[in-house]
Amino acid sequence: MEYKSSIIQSKWKKTQWLLKDSYFRKYVPHTLPFNKKNLSAMLDNYSSVFFKPTNGSGGTNIIRIRKTDRGYLSQMNAAKTSYSTTNQLYRDLNRFAGSRSYLLQKGINLAQSNGKPFDIRVMVQKNRQGDRVSTALFTKIGNPNKVTTNYTQGGTVRTFSETMNGTDFSPTFTPQMESKLKRLGVAVGKNFDRHHKGFQELGLDVALDSKGRPWILEVNTRPQIYPLKALKNKNLYDKILSYGKHYGRFK
Ligand SMILES: Nc1ncnc2c1ncn2[C@@H]1O[C@H](COP(=O)(O)OP(=O)(O)OP(=O)(O)O)[C@@H](O)[C@H]1O
Ligand SMILES: [Mg+2]
Repeated sequence: MEYKSSIIQSKWKKTQWLLKDSYFRKYVPHTLPFNKKNLSAMLDNYSSVFFKPTNGSGGTNIIRIRKTDRGYLSQMNAAKTSYSTTNQLYRDLNRFAGSRSYLLQKGINLAQSNGKPFDIRVMVQKNRQGDRVSTALFTKIGNPNKVTTNYTQGGTVRTFSETMNGTDFSPTFTPQMESKLKRLGVAVGKNFDRHHKGFQELGLDVALDSKGRPWILEVNTRPQIYPLKALKNKNLYDKILSYGKHYGRFK
């Protein structure tokens, strides 16, 4: 069987799909297309704003902007630049974007595990009957000096329980959040299936803020799973593979 799965690159389009449904709205951080007016509006409302390519980039070309006493501090990878006015910041971001389309998103203050920020990947696949199943949950631990947790940006993959053990959340919080995120994954899968045909698998990037509230940062339509190979325990990797065989991703 040949592997075919739909891909939607535009984060703006996928965000609109979620926002159309009141169940998902509370999980989506405020997101707007990048322009001067929206930049000012976002910075008026939030102490941290993410500037990211509409069509994704595997964690590259993402800039975090933070408000400071004297203006703004932008950071991409480990490189920081300060600005005293919104105009200067806008000019630089606009130059950086060039002809590429960009989004602005409210920054989520990521929960930490052993002092390092992390986010969560919820893997949503189809079973033999074609029903949606959340098959795996794992975490990506970021470097505290970087702005993304992506594997390609030095993030490391861990199991959900291992990561949650290093947080301040209560022990009962972890299994509750796991079930909640798995239900959310199935619901997002069904929602996406209504908007577009042919998705075999989806990967939700979910951030927990420091209060434990979950936020959907993006829904990947071609989720990478090779970073999972680095886990000692091969159960999650094997499970994803076995589901993937139903629809021909793996032999
Ligand atoms: N609003 C946000 N608040 C906090 N952190 C964010 C936010 N948006 C993105 N990040 C961080 O940056 C990482 C990458 O962002 P995102 O998943 O949206 O883009 P991407 O991985 O480059 O896109 P793609 O997978 O489509 O190539 C996230 O996993 C998270 O660590
Ligand atoms: Mg991502």
